[in-house]
Amino acid sequence: MIKLGVNIDHIATLRQARGGVEPDPVAGAIIAELSGANGITVHLREDRRHIQDRDIRLLREIVQTKLNLEMAVSNEIIRIALITKPEQCTLVPEKREELTTEGGLDCVKNFDKIYNAVKKLSKGKISVSLFIDPDPEQIKKASITGAEFIELHTGNYANAKKEKDIKRELQKLKDCTALAKKSGLRVNAGHGLNYINVKPITQIPGIEELNIGHSIISRSVLVGLDKAVREMKEMLK
Ligand code: PXP
Repeated sequence: MIKLGVNIDHIATLRQARGGVEPDPVAGAIIAELSGANGITVHLREDRRHIQDRDIRLLREIVQTKLNLEMAVSNEIIRIALITKPEQCTLVPEKREELTTEGGLDCVKNFDKIYNAVKKLSKGKISVSLFIDPDPEQIKKASITGAEFIELHTGNYANAKKEKDIKRELQKLKDCTALAKKSGLRVNAGHGLNYINVKPITQIPGIEELNIGHSIISRSVLVGLDKAVREMKEMLK
C-alpha cells in the first residue's frame, strides 16, 4: 500500500495566527501517527511563518515513523537539518512572498547548488528527496544529483478542472514516475491532493509515498467541530 506522510504545517499556521501555544503541531504529529500516518512532514521555512525551531527539536524526539523535513536549499536550514537528523530532507524552492510552495525545484538551472546540498545531507546519513515538476528534463538532472528520491509535484494535476487536462497531467505523472524509476530514483508525490483527487494517484505503479497536508488538516477542523462545540456546551452547564 502507498504510504501517507501527513504534513502538519497548517496546525502551526493556526497557532501562529494567535501567537500562542495551541494548537500544537507536536500533539498533531502524535495523533497522526496513532491514526496510521507513515510519516510526519514539516516545512521549516526561512521566514518561520508556521513551523518553529522548537517544533523541529520536539518532533525529532517524538516522531516514531519518519520525519521528513521540507526545506529550501539554504545553508542555515542545511545546518539545522544536519543537527536534527530527520530521516528525510525534501529540498523545495522557496520564495518569501508565496502562499505555499509554487512549482518544483529547477535542477537544470540550480544543479551545482542542489548537488552540493545533497552531498552534505547524504554525508550526514539523511535520505534526500527533490521536489520537482513531472518534467523529463528535471528527472534526468535529478538522477545525477545523488538524491535517493524525487517527490513529484502534483499541483497541476490537482488544479486541473477539465477532464482532458486531468488526464494529461495524470499521464505526465505516470510517465515521469516510470522514467524516474528507470533512472534509479525512488518516487514520492504530493501537493494539492485531497479526498476527491487522490485515488488515481494511488494507482500509479512505483509511487511509494504521498505527502498530504492542507486537505487533511482542513477536514479535521470540520469533522472535529461537532465534538468541540458539544464539549464546550458541557462546560457551560
Ligand atoms: N509536498 C511538498 C514538497 C510541499 O511543499 C507541500 C506543501 O507544504 C506538500 C507536499 C503538501 O501539500 P498540501 O498541503 O497541498 O497537501
